[in-house]
Amino acid sequence: MTYQQHIFASVDETAGAVAELIRELTNARAELSQFFNLAVSGGSTPKLLFRMMADESFSADMRWEALRIFWVDERCVEPTHEESNFGMTYDSLLQHVKIPSENIFRMKGEDIPDNEAIRYADMLRHVLPAKEGYPVFDLILLGMGDDGHTASIFPDNMALLESEKTVAVATHPQSRQKRITLTGPTLRNAVRILFLVTGTGKANIAREILSQTQEAKKYPAAYIGTTAGISEWYMDKSVTE
Ligand code: 6PG
Repeated sequence: MTYQQHIFASVDETAGAVAELIRELTNARAELSQFFNLAVSGGSTPKLLFRMMADESFSADMRWEALRIFWVDERCVEPTHEESNFGMTYDSLLQHVKIPSENIFRMKGEDIPDNEAIRYADMLRHVLPAKEGYPVFDLILLGMGDDGHTASIFPDNMALLESEKTVAVATHPQSRQKRITLTGPTLRNAVRILFLVTGTGKANIAREILSQTQEAKKYPAAYIGTTAGISEWYMDKSVTE
């Protein structure tokens, strides 16, 4: 795996760089009258990114009609629940910008998990191009938990890294909360994969992964890069010091 590391002085600068990249890629697609298909993760880290993208000074120059937004994973709760990834994205970004509602492809955490995993996989098959039987996103934005999980692929369920499914049901190892998640092959099929990792709490695991140590093999995030073997990591300097 080749880890392309982008290290910034602060969390704000890190999130700002990711926001700029998304705008640049989306606007380039808009010029070609094409969509930019982006899958986003949940958790606390993306919240800052989304708030930056919602700011008028940024949002005004974004071709929102060209952005189609999907989710990497979702907690099996109502969209209005405080733990909902969609709910967090809606509150911090979607309600503030002019993205067409038909460009928003929510995972329905409120539905029966097995049914929703099937529905979402079928939707992806109809909406996105495919390669080797899996959908192709233009960019997948991933986070990493402090146990080295990414998406909702946890260390106790590494089988999801190689699942034949496009979308699967996962269970959080501590809370036992059900999750809907894109699987490893779907993640790896993306044109670009970008990890947004900030804060000292993840520094040790990030260092193991980026150094490709034996220890790193315990962490799902270590296995996720494009089929070309590229994984882009955007971090603030506290992660790497
Ligand atoms: C989720 C996310 C998950 C997240 C990591 C990092 O649903 O929790 O998709 O994979 O990216 O847990 O979360 P933080 O940004 O909150 O550390």
